[in-house]
Amino acid sequence: MAMAARRRAFTDTSDNPPQTEDLSKTASKTPEAASHDPPIAPPKSGFILKLSICFLAPYLYLINYYYNIDKDLKRSILINASLSLVGYFVTIRMIPVASRYVLRRNLFGYDINKKGTPQGSVKVPESLGIAVGIVFLVLAISFQYFNFTADSNWLVEYNAALASICFMILLGFMDDVLDVPWRVKLILPSFAALPLLMAYAGHTTIIIPKPLIPYVGLDILDLGWIYKLYMGLLAVFCTNSINIHAGLNGLEVGQTVVISGAILIHNIMQIGASQNPEHMQAHAFSVYLVQPLLATSLALLSYNWYPSAVFVGDTYTYFAGMTMAVVGILGHYSETLLIFFLPQILNFLLSLPQLSGYVKCPRHRLPRFDPQTGLLTGTNDGTLVNFFLRLFGQKTEKSLCILLLVFQALGCCFCFMLRWILTGWYK
Ligand code: UD1
Ligand code: MG
Repeated sequence: MAMAARRRAFTDTSDNPPQTEDLSKTASKTPEAASHDPPIAPPKSGFILKLSICFLAPYLYLINYYYNIDKDLKRSILINASLSLVGYFVTIRMIPVASRYVLRRNLFGYDINKKGTPQGSVKVPESLGIAVGIVFLVLAISFQYFNFTADSNWLVEYNAALASICFMILLGFMDDVLDVPWRVKLILPSFAALPLLMAYAGHTTIIIPKPLIPYVGLDILDLGWIYKLYMGLLAVFCTNSINIHAGLNGLEVGQTVVISGAILIHNIMQIGASQNPEHMQAHAFSVYLVQPLLATSLALLSYNWYPSAVFVGDTYTYFAGMTMAVVGILGHYSETLLIFFLPQILNFLLSLPQLSGYVKCPRHRLPRFDPQTGLLTGTNDGTLVNFFLRLFGQKTEKSLCILLLVFQALGCCFCFMLRWILTGWYK
């Protein structure tokens, strides 16, 4: 592991060489010596609190007053929410401890968009997604004990989902430690999706949109194994698309927070408006996994928001992407999920020439930072980050990140509007 960690330190230094010290010495640094690293900056709790209240108020209103949700189901959802709240505080406590440990193992990165300023030469602890993933798994596993509406079928699917998420965390962490090549990175999620695909016993049919029924001649189409292939591809897409829409402080976690919030509101609206127990269970399933995801991600965001005290690593991007893919699949709302992923789809399309190898793809496709003005300028690398900079002109890292997150939120609003307009006509 020390070797691997040294490789990471070396890779990052080659992109951003603020170091003059001998790297091999860094790698062999003893834990005692490393413990002299200064503690990380405190969490930005005030900011997270304001953000949470903006979301929680309407969310709790929908659950408790607006919709008349079945008593047992509501109780399970609220127990899960309380567990998630505990998870938030545990994560807040765990991240500084985990940061010390990863630094000891030389798992750190340099903040590339601050290169040339004093902040650019600070070793930022990397892969804190591992702490978040562990808290999430503990919450999700223990929740089974409290779900009073569960049957054996539910347990099988739930545990398969957790196995996939857990496998993804493992592979993500492996990637952070070993720095695997790009092509390998891209296919890792397809392995992680296997437990879910193997255990999946739900239907493999799709409902044909009403306007298309005359052309297809059927109103329900059984896709069989093609449906499972689609599930696998969705997992690969969700994980990688979050991972490559990154590189600004707070962007990886921020996009997850926005999408998770939208997913939860969608789930509650579906549960509230439905009379079909199967449909309600599918959406409740999603709520049970997304509430802990959102809570633990908010804790991570309080450290990862600009200026980042920790980096999340591919552990986190893969874990978050896989969790959202799993709930989209098992909740049977993958089309809606894909519309929530609109900025990620745009970023993916912009990235295609470089990902396919048609255009050269550097290790980091980030904007150019000017230490004099503190502004970022777009480069020719095909990412949404660069596209926004070219479109709206130079920006600071923080304002660009906020702009991208607002765009993400607008995409989610657009999705809700689209659903509202198309209901009845489309399906
Ligand atoms: C993906 C992107 C890469 C982008 C990188 C940044 C593709 C094909 N790959 O690679 O272009 O540069 O994410 O996350 O699109 N970092 C910062 N500031 C941040 C977050 C990360 O400077 O806010 C830097 C740090 O040095 C950190 C490193 O990025 O150590 C982490 O990169 P990593 O997640 O390993 O990159 P990839 O996911 O492989
Ligand atoms: Mg990454």
